[in-house]
Amino acid sequence: MTTYLPKTVMITAANSGFGVAFAKRFAAAGCRLILTARSQDKLNKVVQGLGVPVHGVVVDLSDRAAVEAMFAGLPADFRAIDLLINNAGGALGLEPGYAAQIDDWQKMVDVNILGLLYCTRLAIAGMVERKCGHIVNIGSVSGSYAYPGGSVYCASKAFVEQFSRTMRCDLIATQVRVTNIEPGMVETDFSLNRFKGDAERAAKIYAGANPLVADDVAETVFWAATLPPRVNINSIELMPVTQAAGPLAVHRTA
Ligand SMILES: NC(=O)c1ccc[n+]([C@@H]2O[C@H](COP(=O)([O-])OP(=O)(O)OC[C@H]3O[C@@H](n4cnc5c(N)ncnc54)[C@H](OP(=O)(O)O)[C@@H]3O)[C@@H](O)[C@H]2O)c1
Repeated sequence: MTTYLPKTVMITAANSGFGVAFAKRFAAAGCRLILTARSQDKLNKVVQGLGVPVHGVVVDLSDRAAVEAMFAGLPADFRAIDLLINNAGGALGLEPGYAAQIDDWQKMVDVNILGLLYCTRLAIAGMVERKCGHIVNIGSVSGSYAYPGGSVYCASKAFVEQFSRTMRCDLIATQVRVTNIEPGMVETDFSLNRFKGDAERAAKIYAGANPLVADDVAETVFWAATLPPRVNINSIELMPVTQAAGPLAVHRTA
């Protein structure tokens, strides 16, 4: 049974994968939504048919000035954000760290870390003032379990994990909640984007694996966000049944 419902929910990168599923799940519960995407076309596609008041913003979250303008430009009835879902992000490349593209590293840091920080800092001031609010960060199991080729992606999600924890320390007296959601393998455009449009390579990641779907993550976030305000879910790690953390690797020369 739902005992608490956030009135206004901001979802970053609402146009793809998890973001679309979050928008649909919170719209189905009647929440008003602030949705971001990087183009008007992408935004239009998700807004259609949600059936709740939506304020859509086209923004690249790695652009600090643009994120500041987005928050400054929120219409009066969307200003009191009850729930921010820091969803935007992703992985680029799977080369070993010593051969990775520095541009890819830069882009991952810009959105997975800096974009999340800008949105959090700008949303949280009002939450503290109102003594009510919830930041849900979309981390990853890769923040806890390193894997070959994961380098900066894994490190960025480890940042999200530790940032979530430290924010909890600072928010202890404010009634503001912080949750880090750490999914394993979920079939979305994540791998297509990681492999820069190579659909065949992306498909191989999920082939025969029965991965999670975005709705599984949306249901998990919805649960954590609708518990009574006295409850803080610190973190949730979820994986497909077919996935597990591997053993420590040993490279033998003989
Ligand atoms: N799928 C998984 O297996 C998995 C597992 C654990 C965690 N996650 C995390 O879940 C989140 C959502 O991923 P997904 O699976 O839904 O992947 P996705 O379908 O590739 O969606 C990623 C979204 O992030 C947006 N984005 C990327 N850079 C951005 C920027 N600079 N500014 C604004 N938006 C930006 C993309 O926008 P465009 O459409 O414009 O590119 C897209 O909407 C990410 O943080 C990802 O790291 C995914």
